[in-house]
Amino acid sequence: MKHYQMGGSIVRALDGLDLDIDAHTFTVVMGPSGSGKSTLLYLLGGLDRATAGEISIDGARLDEMDENALALFRRRTVGFVFQSFNLIPSMSALENVAFPMQFAGITSVQRNHQARNLLGQVGLSDRTDHRPTELSGGQQQRVAIARALVNNPSLILADEPTGNLDTSSGAAVMQLLSDLHNSGRTVLVVTHDPRMTRFATHKIYLLDGRSVSETEYQSAALESAQVS
Ligand SMILES: Nc1ncnc2c1ncn2[C@@H]1O[C@H](COP(=O)(O)OP(=O)(O)OP(=O)(O)O)[C@@H](O)[C@H]1O
Ligand SMILES: [Mg+2]
Repeated sequence: MKHYQMGGSIVRALDGLDLDIDAHTFTVVMGPSGSGKSTLLYLLGGLDRATAGEISIDGARLDEMDENALALFRRRTVGFVFQSFNLIPSMSALENVAFPMQFAGITSVQRNHQARNLLGQVGLSDRTDHRPTELSGGQQQRVAIARALVNNPSLILADEPTGNLDTSSGAAVMQLLSDLHNSGRTVLVVTHDPRMTRFATHKIYLLDGRSVSETEYQSAALESAQVS
């Protein structure tokens, strides 16, 4: 459960949610704006804490961790990908990917080697020296995915990773996430886009902070379409 206190009122961002997400699955989370998708992703990634309830990932209870343990969990286990890429504008693609490794006590030679490797994995070997403004949106997102892979995370959490991309760059990014799933990782993607369900092994539908069945979700979508 995640509630936000806003002045005198309470926003129930997630309410009575009970989910099991199996390891090595590709889960797509669908839901209208404000239904709690990002909130769910942040809770699962340890970027935010639930107001109440248990969150357990691979046997570890996130709700029982202190800040240090939670930071360690994020660094070791989770790779985040965001809609807006969040790259550092003054750094090249290589530097953007190598940067987070500074905190893991890796030498700069090893960092650059590893970053080059990861950029190769996302198909950007020929763009390592480009800054974000010198890359297309799809390429920027692939740099962000390479960066998310730096600590070899077992869980990839992506919030609307294709939201700012045209159809074909979006498809390339989804394919890349699917490849990561096929290489044994657990992938959870938040999206508005029904086309993205193509790679999903599981789907979660959220309405007003609750998980609903596909049928319930679709009849709600139909109703709102009739109203507008
Ligand atoms: N920091 C906050 N303080 C107060 N309310 C918040 C906060 N963050 C989110 N909310 C509220 O919680 C609800 C869920 O927000 P969330 O960002 O999870 O939605 P979402 O499904 O990701 O939407 P979108 O598709 O627009 O990104 C919304 O009603 C939102 O207004
Ligand atoms: Mg969101």
